[in-house]
Amino acid sequence: MGNINFYSGESIPLEMHKPKIVQKLKLVPVQRRLEAIREAGFNTFLLKNSDVFIDMLTDSGVNAMSDKQQAAMMVADDSYAGSHTFTKLDDTCAEIFGTSYFLPTHQGRACENIISQVLVRPGTIVPTNYHFTTTLAHITLNGGKVVEPHIDEALNTSSKHPFKGNMDLDKLQALIDEHGADKIAFVRMEAGTNLIGGQPFSLENLADVKKICDRNSLLLVLDASLLADNLYFMKEREEQCKDLSIREITRKISDLSDIIYFSARKLGCARGGGICTSNEEVYLKMRELIPLYEGFLTYGGMSVREMEAIAVGLEETMDMDMINQGPQFIAYMVDELEKRGVPVVTPAGGLGCHINAMAFVDHIPQEEYPAGALAAAFFIASGARGMERGTISEQRDEHGNETLADLELLRLAVPRRVYTLSHLKYAIDRITWLYENRKLIGGLKFVEEPSTLRFFFGRLDALSDWPEQLAKKFEEDLGNL
Ligand code: F0G
Repeated sequence: MGNINFYSGESIPLEMHKPKIVQKLKLVPVQRRLEAIREAGFNTFLLKNSDVFIDMLTDSGVNAMSDKQQAAMMVADDSYAGSHTFTKLDDTCAEIFGTSYFLPTHQGRACENIISQVLVRPGTIVPTNYHFTTTLAHITLNGGKVVEPHIDEALNTSSKHPFKGNMDLDKLQALIDEHGADKIAFVRMEAGTNLIGGQPFSLENLADVKKICDRNSLLLVLDASLLADNLYFMKEREEQCKDLSIREITRKISDLSDIIYFSARKLGCARGGGICTSNEEVYLKMRELIPLYEGFLTYGGMSVREMEAIAVGLEETMDMDMINQGPQFIAYMVDELEKRGVPVVTPAGGLGCHINAMAFVDHIPQEEYPAGALAAAFFIASGARGMERGTISEQRDEHGNETLADLELLRLAVPRRVYTLSHLKYAIDRITWLYENRKLIGGLKFVEEPSTLRFFFGRLDALSDWPEQLAKKFEEDLGNL
């Protein structure tokens, strides 16, 4: 189902599902929101959910499950070894991806740990269309270096390019020529490229990357965590995919990949992860690490209930009615904000609506974390929390210098099938108010800074009393809510 044309002329995304279970929400007054963000050290990860109205932090582990997933959880076969539930999940992965082996893990980054330990050696390089935070951390931890031969358009926030997640083939080849294939640990393609705004790669590009890998005897590793969104965009935007089913496109993608891993907190709408491959040699090496870090080979740190839910969720992902909801809601949000002049990442991607903080608060230098400041300001103005995806999400270099991010984004994730169009309209309204009052927003500084993945639990403070001034203006314009 696409966007339906209404008799009134309006065109809005229409959900092909209905809620059966609901959770009560609370919107706390603006003065409490101000206190809460101060208590959280201006880090939206540290907010308590009781202060959050709309949770747009992430889609990870918070997509709504279907009735069939919930029903499947009730028949889970609980046993340490040999669980029938594992066999179901194993069979589903084999059927969907056409791969011979499946290794269960507790979540996506656990796959990255296993893959990096097996394939990354000190001094090796991992070319990728773009890094993800945990991927970079694991590759670096194993002595490798991440290099990003992405297309130039990837970092253009106002673009019309349908596949900004594509790899630049010439840059990839040049990298291999420069360092030699033996110095390349593997080539990584990330579906629905997270940190550049949920942008897809094309099937054509993946096939071209695979040709280069084959010519140089390199493994192609696919991060399929955001595959659902990437599949939707291939079907919508790529000529060769128009007449293929989602299942057929998935097979084409997996046939081009040597190793596929995914966070099932995203793909499959449950909680867990897994690695699929037909490469026996690599499989055997990775298998040894599963009982060490994850758990026995038939659960890998997941509860059997979640494994049941993932098996059903992966099947449901093969349905366009299921995978279109996220990207269509996001496109609605992006279009409405664009109409109001708010700088958003275009084209609309998957995962969430991404606001270009570098343009929104262009008076805040990158060293004062514009995307983090915008995330805090948006929470004060709305009670909705987004996630900073900018310099705070980077790590300092080996000399302790700040690594300024390519992009400063405020990500407003739209978990699948959770929020309604009126929730999005509320968020759009509050962003519009914030944009009109953007000069009130000021910068942040770290007061507690962990050395790795600092964005998760680092604490910051405002560089002036701008949060108080913002809350005061909000009360004058809109009252206490
Ligand atoms: N790869 C990608 C592309 C991801 O988006 C994530 C998680 C992971 C790997 C790691 O998976 O969380 O299950 O360990 N992304 C979440 C997010 C955290 O909010 O974007 P995980």
